[in-house]
Amino acid sequence: MKEIILDVDTGIDDALALILATRLTDAFQILGVTTVAGNVELNAATKNTRAVLGLIGHSDVPVAAGAAGPLLRPLRTAKAIHGSRGLGDVDVDTWDVPRAPLLAESAAEFIARVTRERPGRVTLIATGPLSNLALALKMDPSLASRLSDLVIMGGAIEVPGNASPVAEANFYTDPEAAQIVLAAGIPTILVPLDVTEQVLVTRQRLASLRQQASETGSAVGELVCRLLDFYLAACESFGRAGAALHDPLAVAIAARPELAALQPAAIQVAASDPLTAGQSIVDRRPRSAARPESTPNARFCARVDVDACRELILRALLEQGLN
Ligand code: BDR
Ligand code: CA
Repeated sequence: MKEIILDVDTGIDDALALILATRLTDAFQILGVTTVAGNVELNAATKNTRAVLGLIGHSDVPVAAGAAGPLLRPLRTAKAIHGSRGLGDVDVDTWDVPRAPLLAESAAEFIARVTRERPGRVTLIATGPLSNLALALKMDPSLASRLSDLVIMGGAIEVPGNASPVAEANFYTDPEAAQIVLAAGIPTILVPLDVTEQVLVTRQRLASLRQQASETGSAVGELVCRLLDFYLAACESFGRAGAALHDPLAVAIAARPELAALQPAAIQVAASDPLTAGQSIVDRRPRSAARPESTPNARFCARVDVDACRELILRALLEQGLN
């Protein structure tokens, strides 16, 4: 069982990742959730996170709000994909559910404290821009050695970007933070677009999920379908054939890393040039002691078992008998 902190910018697929994490009860004990500005502003991401945790019966999970924007640049949200409030056309203010408690400490302070209390035991799963972890590392560099490991949804290794021609959205939003985190020496698994764009929900699949949710009468199942409906339409408007399960896949791989082919790589993130900001740069030259930057600093998912991942995710999201 892994003790995890989820770092999220909730966001439709972050909401799905949260639901999934709470349902993989054999795999995870959730210590807390930290929030960051990304898909939407920090307040909206935090509000959505606390409400979703409440809806799924986890209003006991503490939430710590973090960075209201990237380290060095203005925030660029992704409301065209996630809706103006972050959860498509869902307004969590209308929900009559308890809210998960908001801590007084910041996300960076929470991560630092929890890893001090449990050195070497905590896995951080990050599904938003990496601003919180970068701030935590700046505040407390020894944090890197106290984290057990890190799973990041981010990057585009061999495929085009989704926020720019070369950059994936989480790296694009805060490239300086991504660079700091990847250079920190934390055992890291990267779950990049190369694999997340393989694990899709199509219109046809959504129709059968809808059917399943209405048969079981599950409120969570209904929410999952409503979120996917909005998200899929947005993805289609950008020329995509399905909705990529980016953030849930990071949670799935954290639970079941054997579903991925993990490839060690020396990865840096471009930041200074506007055209390439957020690009994942892999050093493909032969490794050499004379060139320390060619030493792998992460393993990225080069391939995943697409069917097994999609089934694991969708089965858990549509699980019967819960709510
Ligand atoms: C990532 O960007 C965000 O919009 C999604 O929530 C996901 O974390 C995909 O590039
Ligand atoms: Ca996200």
